Amino acid sequence: LSSFVIAIDGPSGTGKSTVARTLATRLGAGYLDTGAMYRIVAVAMLRADVDPDDRVAVADHLPFVQLDTPTDPQQQRHLLTTVLPGNGSSGTVDVTGEIRERAATTAVTPVSANPAVRHWLLDRQQQLAHSGRMVVEGRDIGTVIAPDAQLKIYLTADAAERARRRHAEQTSGDATDSALPGSIQPDGLAAVQADLDRRDRVDSSRDTSPLRAAADAVHVDTSTMTIQEVVEHLLELAAARG
Ligand code: C5P
Repeated sequence: LSSFVIAIDGPSGTGKSTVARTLATRLGAGYLDTGAMYRIVAVAMLRADVDPDDRVAVADHLPFVQLDTPTDPQQQRHLLTTVLPGNGSSGTVDVTGEIRERAATTAVTPVSANPAVRHWLLDRQQQLAHSGRMVVEGRDIGTVIAPDAQLKIYLTADAAERARRRHAEQTSGDATDSALPGSIQPDGLAAVQADLDRRDRVDSSRDTSPLRAAADAVHVDTSTMTIQEVVEHLLELAAARG
């Protein structure tokens, strides 16, 4: 199977996920959401009462975690299987909603900065990324997971615009929001902006595969573009690369 990879990297709130999934659908390609994989690991730690900031404890728990991430852009159900130490029995839960909740969004930052976690996911992500025609989305796709990608995109947007989009998404009853229990009020715009700033700062400054544009990435500033405009632009770039 020959592989054709479109790598999409960038900070949070650039419309990356929606753009990547829509692009994959339009191309009839697969879609890999690597952020979802880090989020499933974060949920696994929270469910097992492992402190996400404790690098050694997190590494020690990884052997008991199995994740199942789809590559069909139309079917994004994420499953977590926990293998119980001792008797080896296991249980599988659908964590599609849980991985978007606030607790997971907070825990995923230290979990994804943990070198043991990145190493644990590396082979898996590289294999899935090269399993055919794929649109792969994350922070280190063009630099680490698929440096051989035929097309590398680095999506950006003004910080204020990114916060506005994320806030709108959370208050609109959209995909992400369905994960919020009804009794919880969405965060205010300032809180959303502070959270994005925190995540981007840590993602960009960590030692192991930080958020960084590949030298040969095409930078696309989406601040004044709609999702559809970004998708059309990327389709043109993809067509030019064959
Ligand atoms: O993209 P998403 O916001 O779902 O990613 C969740 C978190 O996972 C990011 O904030 C980042 O810390 C981490 N991540 C990463 N490397 C990737 C994808 C996501 O470190 N390739």
